[in-house]
Amino acid sequence: MTLSEMTHRDVPQALALWNAHRGDVGFPYDELGEKAFRSLFIDNGSRTVKVEEGGIMTGFCSAYSKTEYLNGEDYDNTPLYLTITLADDDEAGDMLVEDVVSYARSVGKRSIAATYRNPVMLPWSMSDGNGVYHHNNAPGVPVGSIWQSLLERHGFDVCRLECGLYYPLAGYSIPPHVLDIEKALSADGIGVVMYDRIRHHGFDELFDALHGEVWRRTIEDNGRLASPLPVLVAVHDDLIIGFAGPIACEENGRGWFNGVAVHPDWQRRGIARVLFSRLLGVFHDIGAGYSTIFTDEGNPALHLYESIGFRTGGRFAVMERMI
Ligand SMILES: CC(C)(COP(=O)(O)OP(=O)(O)OC[C@H]1O[C@@H](n2cnc3c(N)ncnc32)[C@H](O)[C@@H]1OP(=O)(O)O)[C@@H](O)C(=O)NCCC(=O)NCCS
Repeated sequence: MTLSEMTHRDVPQALALWNAHRGDVGFPYDELGEKAFRSLFIDNGSRTVKVEEGGIMTGFCSAYSKTEYLNGEDYDNTPLYLTITLADDDEAGDMLVEDVVSYARSVGKRSIAATYRNPVMLPWSMSDGNGVYHHNNAPGVPVGSIWQSLLERHGFDVCRLECGLYYPLAGYSIPPHVLDIEKALSADGIGVVMYDRIRHHGFDELFDALHGEVWRRTIEDNGRLASPLPVLVAVHDDLIIGFAGPIACEENGRGWFNGVAVHPDWQRRGIARVLFSRLLGVFHDIGAGYSTIFTDEGNPALHLYESIGFRTGGRFAVMERMI
């Protein structure tokens, strides 16, 4: 068996391997065409290594080092992100993981992590028999998969568990008890409205309080667009105390948003319930057929999503190994 870096010539074989194994995890990663495969594993600066036996590819492993950092991040404190390891058999998988560990060591990384924080996002899907619900970012290693056992054999630990959830939006309307919460909040001067950059202020303080650097970046990037996407905000006298967004409808019918969060000083009053219910209402109005999200199993947001009717369609392990 030999290892070498994947090149464009390998794509048809690698794609066949991907499409043969993408369902091994119990719920499928999305089928990929050549263009999507190249942009996920070759053209984006990923280090993708293949293993071959007798000229036939039997597996590949793709990893990525960040080059653009959020506030507080740098090369030293970000891991080598492990995007995928996929192999026909254990021997090929073992070789690929050993190789990526020595690579991480050689480039001075302190850890390797398979996590939703990886900028390279793998699309995957959930299904309930009535529909297929896509999500743009598999948030770790599918729980119970061959990939998980492979990483455990090589000293990776499960750091946290993530739940992928789906919710069909047909016929969605804001539930009456949410309207009641809105009324009660309104009596306290709190409203949920569309963000107006002239009128509303406080995003920075909100993200400082939440340590929400990804959200800060997304909201800033959105604000620089010629036509920014809408963002819902919870406000108290024009001070932003929570948000849900930015909001868009993907081509596959999925309602997309980046985050929902409430300032710690204003939590436990029903603000997230109103924000999230309104978000689903906007999704419905802009033609989205469903919403899919993921969250940490320990996050109170899971209770919120499940109480609205979201169902779990897949579970993922965030896995890490120190070098
Ligand atoms: C999760 C979060 C958005 C909830 O905001 P919130 O305004 O406090 O939530 P609400 O008051 O609307 O509560 C919604 C439900 O969650 C429950 N809940 C909220 N926070 C909770 C907590 N810390 N512990 C237990 N339950 C909690 C509430 O009891 C409520 O359920 P109920 O109506 O059945 O009583 C908020 O904690 C937050 O911003 N966290 C950090 C950001 C984050 O993790 N966002 C989610 C990313 S997936």
